Amino acid sequence: MAEATHDIEIRNLYKIFGPNAAKHVESVRNGMTKEELKAQHNHVLGLDDINLTIPAGKIQVVMGLSGSGKSTLIRHINRLIDPTAGELLFDGQDIAKMSETELREFRRQRTGMVFQKFALFPHWTVLENTTYGLHVRGVSRREAEERARRWITRVGLEGFEESYPNQLSGGMQQRVGLARALTNDAEILLMDEAFSALDPLIRTDMQSVLLDLQSELKKTIVFITHDLDEALRLGERIAILRDGKIIQQGTGEQIVLRPKDDYIASFVRDVRRGHVISVRTIMRKGAHAETPVTLPASTLLEEAARAMTNAEVSRANITGRDGQHVGMVTLSKCVAEMIAPDDTEEVDPESQVA
Ligand SMILES: Nc1ncnc2c1ncn2[C@@H]1O[C@H](COP(=O)(O)OP(=O)(O)OP(=O)(O)O)[C@@H](O)[C@H]1O
Ligand SMILES: [Mg+2]
Repeated sequence: MAEATHDIEIRNLYKIFGPNAAKHVESVRNGMTKEELKAQHNHVLGLDDINLTIPAGKIQVVMGLSGSGKSTLIRHINRLIDPTAGELLFDGQDIAKMSETELREFRRQRTGMVFQKFALFPHWTVLENTTYGLHVRGVSRREAEERARRWITRVGLEGFEESYPNQLSGGMQQRVGLARALTNDAEILLMDEAFSALDPLIRTDMQSVLLDLQSELKKTIVFITHDLDEALRLGERIAILRDGKIIQQGTGEQIVLRPKDDYIASFVRDVRRGHVISVRTIMRKGAHAETPVTLPASTLLEEAARAMTNAEVSRANITGRDGQHVGMVTLSKCVAEMIAPDDTEEVDPESQVA
């Protein structure tokens, strides 16, 4: 199975839409904004100096409001869109410079795409839809069907191999889309708002299916969403786009803890912090506590607070990956971090006494 081994390195990537795109790169490099480019030259700035390393075998989420450039970015990775300037390095090659033949091979062998609108052939069965990519690659019918059946089962659709798309619910159709991408056995999976059309419960279900598969497959997944909960649940790394620029990237935890500006702060304000932040980031290093509770550093604050509350203690020791002692946390610190930082001014309680 194709486990991912190469990062995708995006360097100084620019995309300008319009007839004289290349001519305007220099102005954008020198600070021309999206609005100015539109007003003065009637060109659209799609991506503005994107630098992003998408780690092999991890889920990279790209988030941002409508029009921020998410689809434009993901479509550069299999070059459905050509860059105006910049590089996309993968396994020693610049995707932006691949010849027609190289690009065709790269798309077929190494990337798979899952779309928001499932993009299934309506007159083909689930099995036929799933084997499509393999037929194109010349894999024998028998092998293609064997592989497809395995993935159809893995996404929970066993028994529906001979059904047609219109006989399936939206969630089931999206499972077919996922099975088709997995059957291709590509190491890069590009998912543009793949779950956004689904009902909330089915959406959460699909996230679980993906996480479950990924724990074993370790593909490089680029997942686009405008939903913060989905981003935090799936993303091992998250990049936030605005007006074609990456304004912050890091782990979900880093972004929730230290939003770079007010725009991101407003995004993360209502997040359940105890569900995202782990004790690792708030522990006191070194100190050993007298307590029966010991937790791994990756324990989330809510879980840690629950463990201490259940044991009726106010401290816990924290252990590292190999079980060695790395520090301690207090219950009050956990709770304090779970309550979002308050922007109201602190009031001296003494001054309130009439
Ligand atoms: N072919 C095109 N020609 C001109 N402008 C384009 C083209 N494709 C995208 N754009 C513009 O580039 C910007 C980014 O669009 P993009 O589709 O990447 O946004 P998005 O973040 O995926 O939005 P959504 O959440 O709505 O899908 C927008 O301003 C859009 O109008
Ligand atoms: Mg889009």
